[in-house]
Order: sequence, then structure tokens, then C-alpha cells
Amino acid sequence: MQSKTFSNKCATFAPLLARYIIRSNTQEMKVTVIGAGNVGATCANVLAQKEIANEIVLLDIKEGFAEGKALDIWETSPINLYDSRTVGSTNDYSKTKDSEVVVITSGLPRKPGMSRDDLIATNAGIVKMVTENVIKYSPNAKIIIVSNPLDVMTYCAYLTAKVDRSQVFGMAGVLDTARYRSFIAEELNVSPKDIQAVLMGGHGDTMVPLTRYTTVGGIPVTELLSEDKLNEIIERTKFGGGEIVKLLGTSAWYAPGAAAAQMVEAIVRDQKRIFPVCAWLDGEYGMKDLYLGVPVVLGKGGIEKIIELDLNEGEKAMLAESAEAVRNVMSVLDNMNVDA
Ligand code: LAC
Repeated sequence: MQSKTFSNKCATFAPLLARYIIRSNTQEMKVTVIGAGNVGATCANVLAQKEIANEIVLLDIKEGFAEGKALDIWETSPINLYDSRTVGSTNDYSKTKDSEVVVITSGLPRKPGMSRDDLIATNAGIVKMVTENVIKYSPNAKIIIVSNPLDVMTYCAYLTAKVDRSQVFGMAGVLDTARYRSFIAEELNVSPKDIQAVLMGGHGDTMVPLTRYTTVGGIPVTELLSEDKLNEIIERTKFGGGEIVKLLGTSAWYAPGAAAAQMVEAIVRDQKRIFPVCAWLDGEYGMKDLYLGVPVVLGKGGIEKIIELDLNEGEKAMLAESAEAVRNVMSVLDNMNVDA
């Protein structure tokens, strides 16, 4: 009788201990977020609240700005009950030394009437300078780009960093699928937790949400929503960023910040999550030498695998159109000689 009680206690205790061990392993990590604007600060806040790293460095070029945001976040710790430290820095990259993951959000956001591509000249210079500094202090960091135009800024960081492609990638698909999934949840009046989806292509108006790979609690979405309704949701998703810009006069931050934090978590905790991520293609999907959103396995090694789906002709055509749009903006960057 006694031994049964003891083993019951052990059975209860073991998962808690395992959770503690996982947590304490990830506690030794430093994660840096560059840019303390709305997206960067939101990302740092989510990272702190979920205790994804024990030290979160927030860096910005504007004097005192990152320190102020970091302090404000840290002051929520006794309320929200976490112990991750948030540290601010005005452009002192030595504070970012040995970061496991670095999220780059620097650059100008969109104003109403602007496309993401309108930001290229200004943001390329910023992303290049930031990446040089990041790599200097954390040569092994996994770098997640959030700056726009996303696919091309990721390319810019890759050219600058000169590291393996598994180390430099962009946050777009996690945000775009989140928008798509939230719209489906709203339409069906079901929990967004139960909606799974794949979305490919660039982070722009040519992105490709794939209804064939969208499920609601395991049920294909095509069995629950009409083609017309799904097309309406797809159109809304494609312009989801613009919808927020129109409403707010600047671009979104809660969902982009949370999306970047979810990618950080997958890496730091080696979760091997399957996310759509902007990745450097080297023959996958019959494409080479470009950054494009594709499903990947994200873990400690960064992009550990690119998953190649067996796309049908219609899907391939949409992906090719999106790749073409990204290549056009990439060529603008190539003419700027950023890797020189
Ligand atoms: C958006 C920006 C972050 O889509 O690209 O909201």
C-alpha cells in the first residue's frame, strides 16, 4: 500500500521535474532583440513573460530608448511572476555578446499608402549595419529578420553575415498564418488553437495560403467553408498587414512581436516546430538562390530541415508568381551592392 502511494507520488513529480529541468537548461541563454520600437519591445515582452531566456537584451540606436522599454518590461516581473532579466542598451553591441538568438526588427515601418518594398533603400542600410555588429559579437547566433521588405531584408542579412543558411531566416509565415488562422476561427466561431495551416511564398500581396493544407481540429477546412468564403479569407490574409496600417497609420506589432517570439522559443527550447519561415532555397521547390517562405523544422540548429510539399500545378504557379515578386525586389538590393 505504502509503495503504491510512493509510486503515485513519483508519477506526479516526474513530469514537474522534467519541466523544471527543461526550463533551467533554457535559462542560461541570452536572446537579443534589435530595435526597441513597437515590434521589438512586444517581442522582448513576450520572451520575458514566457521566460524563454534568462537574459533578454533590447538594443536601439535612440539614446535611452531601449533602456526605458527594458526597464518598463522588467518592472512587470513581480506582477506577471517571471524572473527573466530584460536589459536595455543604446547601440552597445558588446551587451549582445554570445546571444543564442538575435531578432532584428530595425528599420522604418510602413505608413499608409506605402508598400513594404518602398522601404528597401533605407532599411537595407540599417539591416546591413546591424547584422555586421550582431555577427561580430555572436558569430553562432541564429538571426531572425523581421524588418521589411521581409524576404529581401533577410537576403541582405544573409549576404552580410556570411554564415550558413540555417542560421539566417525571416519571420513572416508565422505571422501570416496566424492572421489566416484567426480569420478562419472567427468565421467558424471555433478556437484558433484548433486551426493548423501552411502558407508559402513571400511576405507580400503574393503570399500563398494553402487551403489544401488547412485543417480545423483535423478536419479539412474545405469541408467546413465554401470556396468563396475561403477565397475571401485568403484575400484578407494577403492584405492583413495593410489592413492594420490603414487602421493605425503604422504597421502592426502585437502579432509580429509574438510571432518572432514563438520562433525564438522553438530554437531556444529545441522544439523542432514546423513553421512557415522565410528560408534560403538551394534547389528546394525547384528554386535556387532566393529567400522565400516555406515550411521548415525549427530547432536548436535554426532551420534544421526544409519540408518539400508535393504541390499541385495551381499551387506551383502561385508560388512561382510570389518568387518572381521577391526576385524583383532582390535585384534592387543586388544593384545596391550590399555585400561589397
Ligand atoms: C506586417 C508587417 C510587420 O505584416 O510586415 O504587419
